[in-house]
Formats: sequence, structure tokens, C-alpha cells
Amino acid sequence: MTRIALVTCSRLPDLDPEDTPLLAALAARGASAQAVVWDDATVRWSDFDLVVVRSAWDYAQRHEEFLAWAERVSSQTRLVNPLPVIVWNTDKHYLRELEAAGVRIVPTQWLEPERHLSSRALHTRFPAHGEMVIKPAVSAGSIDAGRYTAIDAQSRGLAIAHARRLLAENRTVMAQRYLASVDTVGERAHVFIDGEHSHSVRKEAMLDGPDVAVEGIYKEERISGIEAPEEEIRMAREVIATARRLLEARAGDGERADDLPFLYARVDVVSDDDGRPVLMELELVEPSLFPSYAEGALDRIADAFAARARRGRA
Ligand SMILES: Nc1ncnc2c1ncn2[C@@H]1O[C@H](COP(=O)(O)OP(=O)(O)O)[C@@H](O)[C@H]1O
Ligand SMILES: [Mg+2]
Repeated sequence: MTRIALVTCSRLPDLDPEDTPLLAALAARGASAQAVVWDDATVRWSDFDLVVVRSAWDYAQRHEEFLAWAERVSSQTRLVNPLPVIVWNTDKHYLRELEAAGVRIVPTQWLEPERHLSSRALHTRFPAHGEMVIKPAVSAGSIDAGRYTAIDAQSRGLAIAHARRLLAENRTVMAQRYLASVDTVGERAHVFIDGEHSHSVRKEAMLDGPDVAVEGIYKEERISGIEAPEEEIRMAREVIATARRLLEARAGDGERADDLPFLYARVDVVSDDDGRPVLMELELVEPSLFPSYAEGALDRIADAFAARARRGRA
């Protein structure tokens, strides 16, 4: 039996319910899988042939600690997606690199803490009209993201206060126009397993107002399975290929560029005001894979994880 750790956080010690069926599906494939909390100091990571990051959704405020964890695990066993991918993809600055490489992303103002921007300077960088979004560059589960009205003085003031709070925590802030299609058409998430498109879902709008403290570590999502348009699958494939090229270019001389495809990738797409698809995010670390929303998805995911674990042991 190969052994697989499905990595989660202490708030979800038994995995996200969406991932629970994976345990039995992997067992049926001769792999013994278990949920493991990433910051549980008693875990011996070398006991596992494969360590797969799943619902480790509490890393946004503990980014350095999480990367140090990933480095440690990576030195002991096979971690997927691999360490360089985790380093690159847990900070949404990667979107800037994708944009420079020709990917259409949601237009973004990047507000860096080391610039020490005044409220006035933030104000001039925010959109002049419509609605806008303030969110941190290191984030998960829509936590710390808020939606504001650009021309309403009170709302704009709240947006500035939100941005200042994140900057004071030494976090990069992303300011974006709110893309209205998210309310009507919704966001589309295209799931790729081992490089192949597996299935797609639609996710309803997540933001309805200013950032407020939420109880959990993610905001509840409303999901439905969809048949994805071919155009978007093509775009998603290009995004993934571009990410691979960027990661290969980053790999240092002595470092081995991992030649395997991403075990999983999720490409989140929204439509801009002209109806053209743009990238919201590329999730290579801890995306929900939504296996319950498509026929055969759970089997494809379990097949890929089990095969990768056998490879880890080899
Ligand atoms: N520019 C935007 N326009 C409309 N909705 C947005 C925008 N940015 C974020 N959102 C909403 O907030 C959610 C979370 O933002 P996202 O960038 O995907 O961060 P996370 O890593 O937390 O998922 C999205 O799924 C979407 O519903
Ligand atoms: Mg998202």
C-alpha cells in the first residue's frame, strides 16, 4: 500500500466534506490516504509516499510559516504540487507575471506596503466609478475581500480603511473594478487533473459588501456543474502552459524543473464588461476540486493521486 497525506488545516481536521469521498476512492486503488493537519508538529512526513495539499486554507495570515513547512516536507518526501509551484502560486503577484506573458487578467492596481501610501494616494489609485474590490494578494476562501461603491464617499472611505488595514499587516493589496458579470453569468472554475481538463463548475458571486470579519476560514460557496465553452477550456490550457513556462524559467541551475504536469490545476475565469473571458486566479496549491459536481471526476482525481503516489514510492 502506498501512503498519501491529504493536507488540511486544524479547523477542518477531517478534510473539506467535498474531499472526504477521496479516502475510500484511494483505498479502492490500493492507496492508504489520511487527512493530516499541516501544522501538526507530531506528523512524520517521511512516512508518506505523497503529500497532497488540499484544504490548508488558513495559510494566508501565516504565509512564511506555510512556505517553511512546504520546504521542510519537500525535503523529506514528494510534495504536490511541488515546492516551487507553492512558493509561486500562494502569492497573487504571479498574476502580474502571467499578464506580462500575455494572459488577460482582471485589471489590477497593486498596492505595496513598502510604498507607505497615504489615504490620498490610495484614493487616487482606486477606480473612479462603478464598484470595486479590495483584497489581499495572499488570500484564500474570499477572506479579507470586500466590495465597495467607487462614487459613494462613505463606501470609498471604508475601502480606504480596508486597504490601510491590510497594508498595516504588511500585506499587498489588490484593487480591482468589480466585474458585474460575476453577479449574472458567475465565475467559472475549470479543473484540470494531470494536465487534462476534467470538469468545470460555475460559482456564484462571493462579495456583497464591505469586508467584515467572518467566523470560518472560508466563505460558503454556491456551486453548480456546467458544460464549459470550448473557448474557455482553450484559454485555461494556455494559462496553465504559460505558468509552466514561467516556472521552468524560474528554476535555478542546480534546481530540477519538475517535468511532470501539475497534479491538479484550477483556472478561475470571469467575463469582463465586453464579455471576454479574463483570469481571476490560477489555483495550483489548495483549490477545491468539486468532484461531486461532475460524473467521473472523483475517479479521475483518485486515479491521478494514486498513480502519483506509486511514482513517489518508485
Ligand atoms: N474584480 C472582481 N469582480 C467581481 N468579483 C470579484 C472580484 N475579485 C474577487 N471577486 C469575488 O471574490 C471571490 C474571491 O476572490 P479571489 O481573487 O478568487 O480570491 P480567493 O483566493 O480568496 O479565492 C471571487 O470568487 C469573486 O466572487
Ligand atoms: Mg478564488
